[in-house]
Amino acid sequence: ALARAFPKNFVWGAATAAYQIEGATQEDGREPSIWDMFAAIPGKVHQGDNGAIANNHYHLMQEDVELMSRLGLGGYRFSIAWPRIIPQGRGAVNAAGLDFYDRLVDTLLTKGITPFATLYHWDLPLALHQEGGWTNRDTAYAYADYAEIVARRLGDRVAGWMTLNEPWCSAYLGYGIGIHAPGEQDLQQAIDAGHHLLLAHGLALPRLRANSAPNASVGISLNFTPIYPADERAETLRDAERADLFVNRWFIEPLARGQYPGGLFAALEVEPPPVQAGDLELIGAPIDFLGVNNYTRDVVRGGTTPARADESIKVGPVPGACYTEMGWEIYPQALTDLLIRLHREYGMQALYIMENGAAFKDSWDGGDQVHDPRRVAYMQEYIGALASALEQGAPVRGYFVWSLMDNFEWAEGYAKRFGIVYVDYQTQRRIIKDSGLWYSALLEAWRANTVL
Ligand code: FCB
Repeated sequence: ALARAFPKNFVWGAATAAYQIEGATQEDGREPSIWDMFAAIPGKVHQGDNGAIANNHYHLMQEDVELMSRLGLGGYRFSIAWPRIIPQGRGAVNAAGLDFYDRLVDTLLTKGITPFATLYHWDLPLALHQEGGWTNRDTAYAYADYAEIVARRLGDRVAGWMTLNEPWCSAYLGYGIGIHAPGEQDLQQAIDAGHHLLLAHGLALPRLRANSAPNASVGISLNFTPIYPADERAETLRDAERADLFVNRWFIEPLARGQYPGGLFAALEVEPPPVQAGDLELIGAPIDFLGVNNYTRDVVRGGTTPARADESIKVGPVPGACYTEMGWEIYPQALTDLLIRLHREYGMQALYIMENGAAFKDSWDGGDQVHDPRRVAYMQEYIGALASALEQGAPVRGYFVWSLMDNFEWAEGYAKRFGIVYVDYQTQRRIIKDSGLWYSALLEAWRANTVL
């Protein structure tokens, strides 16, 4: 009955990101991004892996779209590599870069797959990093110019734009604790970078709209990790609130309400970012949809003194709970709760799950099957949680599994496999996992209006 819970115009898809799958980092005029630089620093990425070859999707694009078509996907979420389009970050446009995504979009459309494009999934041109990257306000203006250039080329065919993917990660993991590129470790820089990322989004919105088809929609994808208190003690409720402020409210509130949540900067013991007149109006302008990335939840327990908002005590393992290979608890109810909250509390009128999925230790024996029963169960449970959010009125329009295929998992390198398709990196062979077959059968049942 799962398939029946979803309306006919629901978009079922899969997601990827440029640096995680494309490879060909030195081809056709692409210049380095902060991830090429970061991955080259010993110790930053598991086993020294990098995206230089990745899934070689830049060369295998046609086959990969063919694979999506075999899976029966209705949508595909990919990201566009800024360093392919404007290799120095600003200035000269590289025609070969635009051509690649133009071909991708046309190939998708030929197969009846709706393109959803993310304009920034973490691969900042290195030249801009040398001028301060996201801590420099000018980067936001360079981004808006880049976004317009892409929209002028693809805006007649892309159905949904995401300005940014998970700016929380770009800001905090990249500038606050340095586990992602560019690897800075300064919470104040993270706050400032976060503001410039939001400004980039706000500046790009009208320029994307002006250069896209009238029915195209423009949004952003944010990561959310719902926070649950471990007990009912006042200090637990206090620290859970502070964790929520930092993890979930930092970005959604300026976007949905045009202001940073009260107490955020104090709770992080930093100064407010350098907000200029008019910034928050741009940032708070209405979006057509919110992209929701959710994998797990956190359970927080209060300490004797209030924890700094980014340092609350997370408890785990939760007795009886299951965890993925990332160490993330499987807790589908959090997705239901989150979607209802985004609708009720933040007035979001259109939600897409732009990422949801799980890493497990998959193995391939050289045959044509890969058994991943735990991923099948994960997807079944999370899509069930999604159906329950829909029933309770959450306006969910689509679901994109992370990921179409195993890929370069940032600091975790190739060791963590999230795909519903297995990738043998030696041969670049793709093998549909049982989860891919299951997903495909779900989509088929939904199309045919039958019971899975
Ligand atoms: C998200 C990223 C995505 C992928 C998943 C596992 O934070 O947006 O690229 O790495 O996590």
